[in-house]
Amino acid sequence: MLTRDNLPDEIVTARTVVRKTLPKDLPVIEDWPRYPGLQYGCFDMTGPSALSADGDYWWRKIDRCDRCHYSVVHKPSGDVIGVHAFTRIDWARPVIGNVAIRIRADLCGKGFGSETLDALLRAVLDTGMKSVRLDVAATNARAIACYRKCGMRITEEFWQEHSGDPPQMEKPEWAFAVLHLRKDGPKWLVRFYRMAIP
Ligand SMILES: CC(C)(COP(=O)(O)OP(=O)(O)OC[C@H]1O[C@@H](n2cnc3c(N)ncnc32)[C@H](O)[C@@H]1OP(=O)(O)O)[C@@H](O)C(=O)NCCC(=O)NCCS
Repeated sequence: MLTRDNLPDEIVTARTVVRKTLPKDLPVIEDWPRYPGLQYGCFDMTGPSALSADGDYWWRKIDRCDRCHYSVVHKPSGDVIGVHAFTRIDWARPVIGNVAIRIRADLCGKGFGSETLDALLRAVLDTGMKSVRLDVAATNARAIACYRKCGMRITEEFWQEHSGDPPQMEKPEWAFAVLHLRKDGPKWLVRFYRMAIP
């Protein structure tokens, strides 16, 4: 059976070092700037959308046995600029059930997500991990493009209750979501994809 110790401690990419998250990273992550606008605000590291049911932020759970969190350290600055959190790990199968990924808001869209996830996925699959899966909202075209670049493919589609403010589809700022939201009685549902590698 695989254990967390079998996963790589550190991998090096062109611009970063990706290493297991250390407690000293947590205050840095807490201080990251917010994501802009309606589309990305739900990914902020602080605030209600980042809280788990136990009242703690999801990215602080670095010691949980079904998880393995990595920090992305930018080589030139030494700053922690990203997080890849493997969650719902079933060590016996062995399969990674979900991944939470954040690149610091001011550095999104500059290739850091695909550069680091691609290298990390390859290193993790080399350990004997059979599959890495994740769920992504269909409204998040940038994330889907990043995951496809890393070799992930869509394996399933499902609908999940929309959380946060009720959508206002007539407003231009909701245009990104028009194709992927639908009303089910009083609830709004949002389309999700499950993606996987291999
Ligand atoms: C999702 C995330 C990790 C991706 O990392 P990233 O460094 O921004 O992504 P990359 O720059 O490596 O790749 C993004 C790709 O999407 C493309 N892209 C950007 N905006 C897009 C859009 N609106 N529609 C389609 N593709 C888009 C880019 O062109 C790029 O592809 P290319 O390199 O072929 O040009 C990062 O954007 C992030 O942290 N976002 C906020 C939190 C989040 O969404 N997390 C994922 C939750 S499932």
